[in-house]
Amino acid sequence: MRTLADTALSLVSSGRGILAADESVRTMSQRLEAEGVPATEENRRAYRELLVSAPGLRDRVSGVILCDETLRQHASFGDVDLAFPEACHRWGVLPGIKVDTGTTPLAFGEGALVTEGLDGLRDRLKEYAGLGAAFAKWRAVIDVASASDHALKANAHALARYAALCQEQGLVPIVEPEVLCTGDHDLDRCAEVTDRALAAVFEQLEAQHVDLAGMVLKPNLVTPGLGAVPAPADQVAAATLKVLDRRVPPALPGIAFLSGGHDNVTACRYLAAVNAAAGERSWRLTFSFGRALVSDALRRWGGEEAHRDEAQAVLLANCARAADAIAGRAPA
Ligand code: 13P
Repeated sequence: MRTLADTALSLVSSGRGILAADESVRTMSQRLEAEGVPATEENRRAYRELLVSAPGLRDRVSGVILCDETLRQHASFGDVDLAFPEACHRWGVLPGIKVDTGTTPLAFGEGALVTEGLDGLRDRLKEYAGLGAAFAKWRAVIDVASASDHALKANAHALARYAALCQEQGLVPIVEPEVLCTGDHDLDRCAEVTDRALAAVFEQLEAQHVDLAGMVLKPNLVTPGLGAVPAPADQVAAATLKVLDRRVPPALPGIAFLSGGHDNVTACRYLAAVNAAAGERSWRLTFSFGRALVSDALRRWGGEEAHRDEAQAVLLANCARAADAIAGRAPA
């Protein structure tokens, strides 16, 4: 029987990474409209179908994270017309599901946010597992400016409760404490907040009996804010590995970084530098990018069926750069 540890390892190994295509209906609608595509249910479906049916995606991508709406829709490609989870299994990528329900201001949090979605989560996870999902995702959002110990602890507590429920229901949790890149903070400040965030997360995971071998961590890369002068990739790599070495136990099979608003080439350059500097670490270091993989493809598609093949080619080129980065090869 396939264990949680098997699934977690297969998500982060064999030189592949995870495609995050799990924007909420609201966020996806905004992104479609920004490209002049009407934000209809059918256009959201067609766009996700374009992504997961890209020929050869399975060579670069081990899993794809979907949202509730997509998980219940159908994908068709050639003579295949299947529910998305089945289609993903058929095309060789594991389907995952985003299960948090978004953020709300944390009471007495002085501007900090906390992620919601624990109510009724056990039953939703049961249903998602029945629909074919193999793993799940929950994202905590940490703004550098409001990253108090109170906010970090509240978010870590929710992440660990989610992770424990996932494992109870046979789903691998992706645990995502995202320190946002928005702002003009420097590299050291991002490192400090990421270090505190990960310390809080692993404390709560242990307290709530989460098996580290059966989960994947999805952190930010340690970079200066997008409004500050960018740091060279070797500095990003050194700062990122320093925090991970301090905070991430060796039992964890892998770490899949989010892209956080960095473009494809920049995110891949950072990931390549991290892997080149990492040498033989116990955990695998891969990607779970959203925007850095899909934004260019969405722009190329623009809602036009005639542009579908070109959009898929753009997606695959971005995935190929990310897979190269896992092997330590940076884009030119
Ligand atoms: P980005 O890579 O666009 O930051 O998104 C990853 C993700 O899944 C956010 O939850």
